[in-house]
Amino acid sequence: MLKMTHLQKVYRTHLIETYALRDFSIQVREGEFVAVTGPSGSGKTTFLNIAGLLEEFTGGQYQLDGVDVAWISPRA
Ligand SMILES: Nc1ncnc2c1ncn2[C@@H]1O[C@H](COP(=O)(O)OP(=O)(O)OP(=O)(O)O)[C@@H](O)[C@H]1O
Ligand SMILES: [Mg+2]
Repeated sequence: MLKMTHLQKVYRTHLIETYALRDFSIQVREGEFVAVTGPSGSGKTTFLNIAGLLEEFTGGQYQLDGVDVAWISPRA
């Protein structure tokens, strides 16, 4: 089971903040089939990278099989 609640990913420079994901919530149950669609820049790759634990997030919660991902990987 994959559950993201109010997930946020923001890229910051000293000049600008870019929200790749803002207040993003999704729940995918075991055996469920999901397609990720949306316009370029809408955050599909960011979502998949975070879901696959390849990238950290900057806010919200992510539970994978009932385990809080934030406990595994402390975030900056
Ligand atoms: N490393 C990064 N630094 C700064 N901004 C980024 C970075 N990676 C992605 N972004 C920004 O985050 C937003 C989401 O990007 P993302 O690549 O997740 O979209 P996408 O839906 O996969 O787009 P595409 O369909 O073109 O692959 C975009 O505004 C993008 O410019
Ligand atoms: Mg992409």
